[in-house]
Amino acid sequence: MKTGIYPLQIQGLSLSSNIFYAPLAGYTDYPTRQMIASFRPGLFFTEMVRGKALIEHFEKVKNNIEIEENMHPVGAQFYENDISIAVDAAQFLENKGFDWVDFNCACPSPNIVRQKCGAYFLRCPQEFSKILRAIVLAVKVPVSVKIRLGWDHNSVVAPELTRIAEDVGAAAVLIHGRTALQGYRGKAQWEKIAQCVTISKNILIIGNGDIFSSQEAKERLLQSRCHGILIGRGMLGNYGICSDIQNFFLKKEEYRRSWPETLRQMRRHWGYILDYYPVISALKEMKKVGFLYLKGHKDIKKIRKSLAQANTPSAIFALYDDICKIM
Ligand SMILES: Cc1cc2nc3c(=O)[nH]c(=O)nc-3n(C[C@H](O)[C@H](O)[C@H](O)COP(=O)(O)O)c2cc1C
Repeated sequence: MKTGIYPLQIQGLSLSSNIFYAPLAGYTDYPTRQMIASFRPGLFFTEMVRGKALIEHFEKVKNNIEIEENMHPVGAQFYENDISIAVDAAQFLENKGFDWVDFNCACPSPNIVRQKCGAYFLRCPQEFSKILRAIVLAVKVPVSVKIRLGWDHNSVVAPELTRIAEDVGAAAVLIHGRTALQGYRGKAQWEKIAQCVTISKNILIIGNGDIFSSQEAKERLLQSRCHGILIGRGMLGNYGICSDIQNFFLKKEEYRRSWPETLRQMRRHWGYILDYYPVISALKEMKKVGFLYLKGHKDIKKIRKSLAQANTPSAIFALYDDICKIM
């Protein structure tokens, strides 16, 4: 069995690598998708939207799934509990040009679970099977399902759900190695993700949880023998982490991005934000993104204060020069 970093070919879709970027609601907006796409991960996703909203209130969620020609390959993720709406939503996304559709059965937010969506399905394998089968049959593009290990430590169902997903013809299972009740506490349990790899035959197992460096990516991939990895928070402010990981496999050296390079990326990202949002929202987003890039900088306290106080986009761009001087 192959391990490490390699291209994937699935249902006629070619992915340059098995390093995927996760959906991150509130972070993977259009300007961030422009940044991400420029670094060419194997696949990345737009953030979760309700299937019903796609069909009935598209204007309200349009921004969440907006893509442009040079962002491919890109997947869209949705959540839903009604089978016929889920089918319509999957077809809608396929018709919008997405290369891949992911069904969210992982979100543990009480608000989502109350609606019998997201992690709710971890407790209902039969309903999981029915809705996933319908989605897979509805579209030609690859369909994956994102899950957690189970609802809690006493009900780890990831292997059972992997078998079901394989039976209904899904292309991949994206597994976050924590339970729903765990939230983000404790470490992702990759040994439990590895159990799903051992029982999989024709389905890709994409492991997810706590990958923040190339070294961690390599260890998780080699130990779990997953067919790929899904990186969430580790991409924030470091959108080129997929190429760093690829290089690490080749050269065995962890790439330390220099501050000038990080700052140039931040400035490019600011530019995308300013082009996309009206000024007031742009200002807010530029600050949010700025903090992501600048974490770990030696003068972070001082810079943080100036960034927080900036009240126009041009004041923020002016800060760029100041930050460059104190590097
Ligand atoms: C701010 C934030 C937003 C998220 N939004 C989504 C989402 O829209 N869909 C989803 O399936 N998971 C979402 N997740 C979970 C991540 O995709 C990922 O599974 C989780 O963060 C673990 O991976 P990581 O340790 O690499 O971050 C979100 C996580 C965070 C922190």
